[in-house]
Amino acid sequence: MSNQAQQRIEELRKQILEHDYKYYVLAEPVISDEEYDSLIKELEKLESEYPNLITPDSPTQRIGKDLNKDFKPVQHKIPMLSLANTYSEEDLLDFDRRVREGLPDSEKIEYMVELKIDGASVSIRYVNGYLKTAATRGDGVIGEDITSNVKTIKSVPLKLKKLLSDSSSLRDIEVRGEIYMKLDDFLKMNKERETAGEKLFANPRNSAAGTLKLQDPRIVAKRKLSMFSYSIISDEDDLGTQAENLIILKDLGFIVNSESKLCFNINEALEICHVLESKRESLLYEIDGAVIKVNSLRQQKILGNIAKSPRWAVAYKFKARQAYSILKDITWQVGRIGTVTPVAELEPVFLSGSTISRATLHNFDEIKRKDIRIGDKVIVEKGGDVIPKIIGVVLNERNKKSKPVNPPSKCPVCNSNLFKPEEEVAWYCENSECLAQIRGRLEHFAARGAMDIEGLGEALINLFVEKRFLNTYDEIYNLKNHRDELINIERLGEKSIDNLLNAIEKSKKQPFAKILFALGIRYVGAGAAKKLASFFNSIDDLIAASEEEILGIHEIGKSISDSIKTFFSNTKNLEIIERLKSAGLNFYTEKKTIKNGALFDKTFVLTGTLSGFSREDAGDKIISMGGKVTSSISNKTDYVVAGDKPGSKLDKAKALGIKVINEKEFIEMLNG
Ligand code: IVH
Repeated sequence: MSNQAQQRIEELRKQILEHDYKYYVLAEPVISDEEYDSLIKELEKLESEYPNLITPDSPTQRIGKDLNKDFKPVQHKIPMLSLANTYSEEDLLDFDRRVREGLPDSEKIEYMVELKIDGASVSIRYVNGYLKTAATRGDGVIGEDITSNVKTIKSVPLKLKKLLSDSSSLRDIEVRGEIYMKLDDFLKMNKERETAGEKLFANPRNSAAGTLKLQDPRIVAKRKLSMFSYSIISDEDDLGTQAENLIILKDLGFIVNSESKLCFNINEALEICHVLESKRESLLYEIDGAVIKVNSLRQQKILGNIAKSPRWAVAYKFKARQAYSILKDITWQVGRIGTVTPVAELEPVFLSGSTISRATLHNFDEIKRKDIRIGDKVIVEKGGDVIPKIIGVVLNERNKKSKPVNPPSKCPVCNSNLFKPEEEVAWYCENSECLAQIRGRLEHFAARGAMDIEGLGEALINLFVEKRFLNTYDEIYNLKNHRDELINIERLGEKSIDNLLNAIEKSKKQPFAKILFALGIRYVGAGAAKKLASFFNSIDDLIAASEEEILGIHEIGKSISDSIKTFFSNTKNLEIIERLKSAGLNFYTEKKTIKNGALFDKTFVLTGTLSGFSREDAGDKIISMGGKVTSSISNKTDYVVAGDKPGSKLDKAKALGIKVINEKEFIEMLNG
């Protein structure tokens, strides 16, 4: 019986995978949804009767039940590089010149031009034909393991289509590509999120990248992601050209974008770039440019890489998309540190996948400089994921009734006086108890990346501040003592309050670095907080630190150290911290898990250019493994990592007898 079952299971799997391929890769389904579902049901039933026959490549195993608790590090076979950008014909001709200079005169050069898909890059490893791991780009050298999420994407083969026995070079490969969300799926998802009162994604790229980092693969499976593959990496050397690789990828069962073109010189490549740009509006997914690649892999190898990008490829970025709108009004927003910022209120206009009705105007000087008036026809631009900007006014269509704008003389929220520091363009509300500042601070504190308190967003914070439940950070941890009163606030039910209180309790486990960031000390962003938390180990050490000590940390400058000193000299802030400590927040760095590593408690100085990572990334790596990075060499330095063209630091290190290691030794150290 089990033999028969096995046969049927195998048959069903084969059929289902074939239908997945026809539906998701070729977009040519041959059976109805009902027929497909009945195949899945039959397979599920048989597998539940014979659980020992379940294999990892079974279509039922696309959606795992376990949550991703942490995304483990995965080392890429070769680094995932990024591309240098070009914006004009001239830039492209320069690229072509550099390519020709890097190759012998006799070489004929062909270029492959592909779309630059605006999604999240992934690298998927297949061993003996089966999907083994999928990883994010990470810092280019080491990514994060997102296998269980990527497996839910039906256009990603769990098993390669072609038999590999005849081709030894394909036994252990990495396939790279871009995971993206189609525009209409993105719009639909945002609409659903809006109805549910959830935060909207800024664009399809963020929604793809955010989805890949979700903890629950079952939710990932519901979001419609897809992948275009553009690269195959194998240890063996018998791959020929990019054009051939795209065909191999297709044969293996991947979706390869069909807009790619092989060009015989740079002028032809440029022409294709223009053609692709003109197609931009009619595509079902977002692109942000074209990629031009030297076709021959042999030539690619000769050309090699500089720092983080290859010499054999560039991105040709399309112009940011613009739209016209009417400026209905200018409102003034007060931020968490009191900055008063003008906001353009616009006639809603659709641009790059979303409707824009507000845009930032940065500061009053900008309004004056661009002579922007209420009632004007304005040009709005959206570049990448940044907030839309007003580029300028269509002056020859200016309406006589358009009105110049005056800056407010008092805070638009609390009516306090405004002040402008001499060296800045911004105006500030002088009242740190201004409701807008209080709300802004709390919003920052609860946000993702800081205390990450799910559910405590703008709307609830406004409500709680208005009802006087919240004023300072520590009062968030007091909300549980007001459970009954909160439940009685109109429209908040018992369930949502309990969820919120649970999320608040959970946030007590946030690591010190996140708490330090959440405190909202001016200039202390997430990166600086991480460096400070790792260097000082506890908030008490940071409070007690001298300015020199703070300044000694790699990439921490005077504005940050001044701001830290000012923040801790305010007794109110110290009291809040004490109350947060009593609430159970964790104001020291836990280094238990990394204590045994070679980098733990070691102080590093970086000099010269590393080929696999930027200094910033290398610094983050050291910190994440319990080490410290400083900018100058002293007798406390344990290692100097010397890249290409090291500066005078190398001489100093040698003079002081400090151990100098090269990039290879450094990577070996990281890999333990
Ligand atoms: S080639 C060294 N091809 O653009 C080769 N990249 O900055 C780099 N991308 O992170 C990749 N479409 O995620 C390549 N057809 C394409 C691409 C593409 C999108 C992304 C990729 C990479 C970024 C380059």
